[in-house]
Parts: sequence; structure tokens; C-alpha cells
Amino acid sequence: MRTSNIRRSMKLKKSPPTSLDTLFIKTYGCQMNEYDSSRMLDLMQEAYGMRLVASPEDADVILMNTCSIREKAEDKVYSELGRYRKLKEKRPSMIIGVGGCVGQQEGKRIQQRAPYVDAVFGPQTYHKLPEMIHKIRRDRVQVTDTDMPEIEKFDHLPAPKGNGLSGFVTIMEGCDKFCTFCVVPYTRGSELSRPVEDVLEECGKLLATGTTEISLLGQNVNAYRGLSKDGDEWDFTMLLYAVAKLDGLKRLRFSTSHPMEMTEEMAAAFGDIPVLMPYLHLPVQSGSNAILKAMHRGHNRDDYFPLIESLRKYCPDIALSSDFIVGYPGETEEDFEATLDLVRRVNYDFSYCFKYSPRPGTPAAQSEDNVPEAIKNERLQRLLELTRLQTRQAMVKQIGRAVEVLVEKESKKEGEMQGRTADYRIVHFKGQVRQIGQIMPVRITEAYGQSLHGVLILA
Ligand code: 5AD
Ligand code: SF4
Repeated sequence: MRTSNIRRSMKLKKSPPTSLDTLFIKTYGCQMNEYDSSRMLDLMQEAYGMRLVASPEDADVILMNTCSIREKAEDKVYSELGRYRKLKEKRPSMIIGVGGCVGQQEGKRIQQRAPYVDAVFGPQTYHKLPEMIHKIRRDRVQVTDTDMPEIEKFDHLPAPKGNGLSGFVTIMEGCDKFCTFCVVPYTRGSELSRPVEDVLEECGKLLATGTTEISLLGQNVNAYRGLSKDGDEWDFTMLLYAVAKLDGLKRLRFSTSHPMEMTEEMAAAFGDIPVLMPYLHLPVQSGSNAILKAMHRGHNRDDYFPLIESLRKYCPDIALSSDFIVGYPGETEEDFEATLDLVRRVNYDFSYCFKYSPRPGTPAAQSEDNVPEAIKNERLQRLLELTRLQTRQAMVKQIGRAVEVLVEKESKKEGEMQGRTADYRIVHFKGQVRQIGQIMPVRITEAYGQSLHGVLILA
């Protein structure tokens, strides 16, 4: 099997140079990865005039932007690569690149296992993609670049093209928290904040393309410490106020926040900044003090409740969400019940629940993964039952309300459009394609598990 792969990659050396017209990007994982993928497209458009296509069959270049946050990440990558390999057998001039967090972690191992992969790169090196592609085409070689360079990749990225609707802007990257379960500090490196002017300039450019909603991104935005033109250090709240003032901005969001660095000023900003949308993702992971300590989260459950109270004090309608991990090593029934109790007390609008899985290279992976799979499954089900009920109840509460919907796209149902409310709920309503990008008033008429249905309010 492996030998025949190698032969194939040798045959490739004689194949004609790739045309560089069409690009397909497959993105896994978080919003940060979505941002990175949109920047890869900007780069390839600028360097080679490439255009994005919807299917890998039509692509001259296929890029995978991978995620390694939870289990089986590598397996998913290799099985997807298997599909691309078949395409490349038919059209050997095709270029295949694997980037993102699995690229960073696996490096050359990817090309050892899948020799038809031309480029492997990480989240900190994708700005060099045009150069890598050039080299692959000219010399018919494989390249691997998973450095974590000191220089900022952001200096090498072209102006964002925007989609006329909503856009992401990365304000900081990496993480210095080293929660024991998490692979991010190893794939994305240590915390690095972009200078204030760079962030404001990128936001301004997006707004100039007609974007009305901006999401500021970082693994931990509260840790933002960016330098201003005058050499002062700005924290996240200062940045938030400055972005909020930019012309043309109608909606501002951010993610993700760590409870440890949530400040009173940040909570107050939700009551203070009209364009800051009333939705916050504040992952707590567990409601048990013993587990929070074992995870190195840096706070206990009693530190978390006042944060929620403060957010609700400044912004009574704020929607809240969190991530949870069940079955962390050593989690007892009592620990898990503490999580259920915290969830009941907070009453979340949305929850994202995961079974613990050891990630290679993390401190937790050194401990025995000792909660049996059957118990993990059972706890996950119990947690899902509770969180789904909370989400549904929060949705039902919306019935009869007049809400503002930023129209995003046509919905799957004919004649209907899909958009989001200020508090991030998905709404479907009968509308027109020309409303995409506009904020429309909608009366909510029905609630489902994950979305709402409404009718346009006519003036
Ligand atoms: N196992 C399970 N879930 C994890 N997450 C991160 N690492 C792991 C892991 N090893 C979850 C956390 C995090 C979210 C993005 O993914 O809940 O907040
Ligand atoms: Fe996945 Fe985390 Fe990397 Fe995002 S930062 S791609 S969630 S591992």
C-alpha cells in the first residue's frame, strides 16, 4: 500500500504544472479556523487570481484547514485525504495542502502516511502559502512548514475581501492558560496580541466592503494586551470601545472568553455599547471544584456565579453559553452532579457538551483516562437532556417577541430567508434574497430546538 503511494508521488514529478485557477478549502473546527481559511482565500486570490469552488472535484488546489481539539481529529483528516487521493490519481497535477492544528501537530508524519500531500503547514505559517505553492509547482517537491515564527503572519496578509455581511477579525492568538486537557497552547503557541492600529485598520477595511457585523476572535480575547500607536498597552475592553466607534458597524461580537479574566468593565460594556450584541460564550467546563482544579482552570465554581450575575445586571437580556467536558480523569458521580447543579443555577441559552478525550502532548493525557466509556456516554446524555431543555425553554420564550434579524442567506425551505437575532438565535422567515445583509424586524411565531420561525413586521 505504502510503496504504491510512493510510486504515485514519483510519477507526479513528471506531471504538467498545475494551473492555478480554482481553490477548494475544507474547514474544520472553530471560528478562528474559519477566519484563517478566509485569509488563505484572500492570499491565493491576490497571489494567483484563484477563485473558490464548492467541490474538490473542480479544484486545482485543495486545502484542508484542520482542527485537533477533540478526538479522532487525525482519523478524520486521513479519511478525507483518502477521497482527495482518488481525485489526484485522475488529475496528478492537483496540489493538496494540509494546514491548521493537525498540520501543526503531525508535521511531516502526514506526508509519510499520505505521500500525495504536497504541503503541510500550521496556523502560524499559512501566510507563506503562495510561496509554498510556487515551490511545489516549480520544483515538484513536497514542503512542510510548521515553524512558529516570531514575526507576525498578519503583516503578510492582504486586505480582507469581506462578504458584505459579517466578518471575523483575529485580535490575539494562542493561549498561555495551559488547561490540562487542551491542545491549543501546543498548536497555536503562546498568547500574542495584534497591535491596536492593525486591528482597527482591518475592521475598517471590512466595514468599507459593506460588512455590518464584526466578530473579534482569539482563543482568550480577555487576555488581549495590544500596543497602541503611542506605545500604550490596551486591554480588551479599551479595544472593544474603540472598535464599537467605527463607522458603519452595526453589530459587534467576540469570542472566546475565559472566566478567570472576565472583568466588571467587560460585563458593563454589554450595557454600555449599543452595537455590542447581547450574547456571551463563557466556557466553564465543569461545575466541580475538584475537577476545575485538576483541569488547571484557575478558578472555582463560586467565582463563576458572580460573573453571570454581573453580566445579567448590566444586560438583563444577555444570552449565555458554555462548553462542558464530561468524564475528565477522576470525575466522580458527585463531581458530575456538581456540573448539573451549576447548569441548573445558571440556566444557559446554549450549551456545547463534550466527552473528554485525551489529546496527545497535553498534561491530562498523562493521567489514566479512567472514566469508562459507558459512564461518559451516560453523563453526556444526562447533561444533554438538561441543556437541550434549557435551550428549548429559552427559545419558546422568544415567541411573540419583535426581534431584529441580520439576514444571512436563503434558507433550505423555498421562499424563506435565514438570519440571526442580536442574541445569536437562528431565525427563518418568508423573505427576499435582496434582504441579505440587511437587518429586518421580525415577529417570532414558532420555536424549535435550535431555531425560530417568524414573520416580517411590515412598517
Ligand atoms: N476533550 C474533550 N473536550 C475538549 N475540549 C477541549 N479539549 C478537549 C478534550 N481533550 C472542549 C472544551 C473547549 C472546547 C472548544 O472543546 O470544552 O472549551
Ligand atoms: Fe481546533 Fe482549537 Fe485549533 Fe481552533 S484552535 S482549530 S478549535 S484546535
